[in-house]
Amino acid sequence: MRFWVQSRNFIFLALLVVCVALVLSGPKSRSTPSKSELTPGTRSSGPAANPTADHGIVSTLEVLLRSPQPDVRASALEWIARDKRAQNPEFVSQIFAALKDKDGNVRDKALTNMGWILDRYHGSTTGDQALSTIQKALKQTSDHAAQLAALDLIGGSGQGGVYYNADATHEDPLLISDPSIRSLLVSMLANPQSSLRPQLLRLVSGSPSLQSDPAMVGAVAAALNDDDLSVRSDAVDLLVKIYQQGPPILRAQAKNRLHVALETGDPNVQLRASRALGVPIPPPRPQPRLVSLTGEKVSMADVPFDFNFFTAFVQPLFVKRYGNAACVDCHTPESNTSGKFRILAAGPGGHYTLEQSRINFVSVLAVINRKDPMKSKLLLKPLDPTTREGTIRGLNHDGGVFWENQYSPDFEIVADWLKGAKLQTPPEKQLDFAYFEKHIESIFSTPGPDGFACINCHSTHAILHLESPETRNGKLSIEQLINNYQSAHRVVDEAAPSDSYIVRKPTSPREGVPGGLSHAGGVRWPDKKESWQYKALITWIGMPNLAKSPTQTAKARAEGSSY
Ligand code: HEC
Ligand code: HEC
Repeated sequence: MRFWVQSRNFIFLALLVVCVALVLSGPKSRSTPSKSELTPGTRSSGPAANPTADHGIVSTLEVLLRSPQPDVRASALEWIARDKRAQNPEFVSQIFAALKDKDGNVRDKALTNMGWILDRYHGSTTGDQALSTIQKALKQTSDHAAQLAALDLIGGSGQGGVYYNADATHEDPLLISDPSIRSLLVSMLANPQSSLRPQLLRLVSGSPSLQSDPAMVGAVAAALNDDDLSVRSDAVDLLVKIYQQGPPILRAQAKNRLHVALETGDPNVQLRASRALGVPIPPPRPQPRLVSLTGEKVSMADVPFDFNFFTAFVQPLFVKRYGNAACVDCHTPESNTSGKFRILAAGPGGHYTLEQSRINFVSVLAVINRKDPMKSKLLLKPLDPTTREGTIRGLNHDGGVFWENQYSPDFEIVADWLKGAKLQTPPEKQLDFAYFEKHIESIFSTPGPDGFACINCHSTHAILHLESPETRNGKLSIEQLINNYQSAHRVVDEAAPSDSYIVRKPTSPREGVPGGLSHAGGVRWPDKKESWQYKALITWIGMPNLAKSPTQTAKARAEGSSY
């Protein structure tokens, strides 16, 4: 991944050099425009022609688009998506063709061009084709990367990859205002099986216009029932935002939903709803008993193991493929396997709803030994009975061996859970939060050469909204810290850390560079990529990637350990 990011940047940089050289070497043709350029009316290409097209760049890109190397084709497409001067009508058919390229990265980069094509050809067949390409990418479920690329386009598009600033007074990008896209976003967010909810919530949270869609409140409220703790948190935060800042009708709707949320059993959601509404959390109601898949009536409150840890780390193991087999293949109620281990089959993408997760949670109790959890069949059946490593041996299991010894990360996850590991309220306990508090927060308050710090200018921003310390000793309250943490998350790209606005903006000059970005605050770190700020931010953004090992993450989360 790291290598890929670097090599991609390298190619991009090489392209930049080529193009800048071309621009510099061709001042003649630019400073003395030909007659036809001066009189656009005589041109045959009509209104679709790109008035800002730069012929040097365009002809270079033409060659690169035909390269046999997918990386080069992808970079050329990325270039076109970002640079207005490269967005030439001649490329349109090549871009549509690239949507069917064998290489996934090329296809994704072709997709990112649909934004400017839609803008330019809005209302024509080409525009319609761009729109339906984006819709298709969102609707399909087999290619997650394409879905993410389409969402990015909606969030930051309109101007072909140019950052969309919600503070600005200009109109919404076409995509956000398109009714069919809106209703698609609403239905995706409302869908309990959707795995894109985290990204959808982030998108809506950054767009006042999407927030003011009448159907959005219901969709956000539906996400309060997601089985993922952080989705529930983000959803309640967004409802609070709509309640506090939305148009009056929606405020009332959001208020009702927050009152409903107060009654849920999720303390994390309740706490936020109660703060926003200024009413106390109602006393817990006796929870209805759930019927487990083996027919026992169980109340969630009677189970001594942590539900959030279960949904985040244990339940995914039941759908995980070990070679060809997964627990769900043999252990659903329909599969008639003997014994008491029963779990529900998951939805598409291995996703469970909150309701299904609750049922699975109370059902696995049947194979847990409450008196001596480490002797549970849930733990020992998948473990190799003949292992020589460690002190724990598995039990014979007709389903076969899944964990080779007690040091297998998946065994450790289940063992940790049975020993009482908890997944606490995010984001305070999130792995990268500790690092943020220690190394990132100070970046926002450190003044640059002109005496200004990020917080001096960004306290009024909607996107990177940073709060300053209230007290004189310069300490932020936990709420402020969380605000800054969440705010910073809006401008990071975890898949490509160095592409994140949080590092690109402060290293960009006020007036910008051709094809590049500008930052109204100017260059904040004179050493740019060599600065400690840049390095710390890149480390922080890459953290969720680095901490891929689930046990590592699980443990760090369970212990709330800091880096
Ligand atoms: C290919 C089918 C198959 C797969 C896959 C499979 N099992 Fe099993 N499992 C069985 C069969 C058959 C039994 C009953 C016979 C036995 O106990 O070995 C069983 C029994 C069990 C039992 C004991 C139930 C009882 O009440 O005695 C547990 C616990 C269990 N499996 C856990 C798992 C876990 C966890 C996984 C995934 C990591 C898994 N199994 C994957 C077939 C499978
Ligand atoms: C002197 C004022 C000033 C300072 C200091 C400043 N910025 Fe900005 N920044 C702006 C303005 C104005 C914009 C909006 C226009 C633009 O995008 O360039 C902006 C935009 C941004 C954006 C895009 C998202 C948004 O909120 O609009 C990011 C990310 C960003 N700045 C990061 C930073 C970081 C990180 C620092 C500190 C290292 C910083 N800025 C310091 C003025 C400033």
